[in-house]
Amino acid sequence: MIDIVHSKSGSSVSIHPFGATIISYKSSGGENLFVSRLSKLDGSKAIRGGIPIVFPIFGPPPKDSGSTMPQHGFARNNMWKVKEGSQHDSDSHAGVTLTLDLADASKGRGGNNIWSESDAKTGATSCQLIFEVKVDNEALSTTMIVQNTGSDAFDFNCLLHTYYAVEGKAAQDPKQCYAKGLQGYSIIDKVRGVSGEICGEDPVDLTAGAVDSVYMAPEGKMAVNVEVGVGGGRTVKMEAFGTIDDKPVPASCVVWNPSAEGAAGMGDFGDDQYQEMICVEPGILGDQPALGPGKKASLTQLIFA
Ligand code: BG6
Repeated sequence: MIDIVHSKSGSSVSIHPFGATIISYKSSGGENLFVSRLSKLDGSKAIRGGIPIVFPIFGPPPKDSGSTMPQHGFARNNMWKVKEGSQHDSDSHAGVTLTLDLADASKGRGGNNIWSESDAKTGATSCQLIFEVKVDNEALSTTMIVQNTGSDAFDFNCLLHTYYAVEGKAAQDPKQCYAKGLQGYSIIDKVRGVSGEICGEDPVDLTAGAVDSVYMAPEGKMAVNVEVGVGGGRTVKMEAFGTIDDKPVPASCVVWNPSAEGAAGMGDFGDDQYQEMICVEPGILGDQPALGPGKKASLTQLIFA
């Protein structure tokens, strides 16, 4: 485990090297992240909770692609390395940087896709992933950087799959648990199978049962800003923004909660724990410009808690 403490404020972060998954972020209000009590932490499965990194695909591979890459890609299924000398604790903040080279990603690439081991040997598709984590008295800052180290451009999606802890089992109480700030975003509702509705002024809550919706930014909107109600009278503010080849791209956001039924179907999630979490996941999703050789993309998420 990599433990980062900002001595000046007492805020701290714990990062599991498997997936570079942040599994704890404590600020003055206490723990902000949810981790399932049944989560595997032994590298046999992606960690169920905290902030798993989703790359290069979001969800399952495209239908009919023949790809056998597992859902949400390989970034969360491999051991990352701490960049030598990157761990620090100064007055302004504490932090660390982790990296994953495609060559070290032995799991989760599947077959029949540009990332599969047999295809990647040619060096056509290759990347280095860099994850910069910083914590100070007011926020946790996480930036994932995708560096194209191959000779071909590639398309990708990426996302920081943040599981917030909701105090008092209050996730289904709309007064206490919600995501506010997505008005005007176009909704892909994966539960109802409906796309294209526009999110209104009302906060998104979890009263409808299972919630699994992607919110795509309206024209011209780049950064996403969401207030998340996390129970116990507390809110956290999230801001996220991304770039491809140094040009801003719109940040989308996913809201997810499996409900009682979905929880019962997951081996690594307690039956009652859907009441203790809300996922609010910023990402670079949908059709975005391809990332050319030698170019980089970035996704930053700031959590003010
Ligand atoms: C969300 C997806 O981001 O992650 C959901 O929108 C998915 O469809 C959820 O169920 C959890 O995914 P996984 O692979 O960690 O079980």
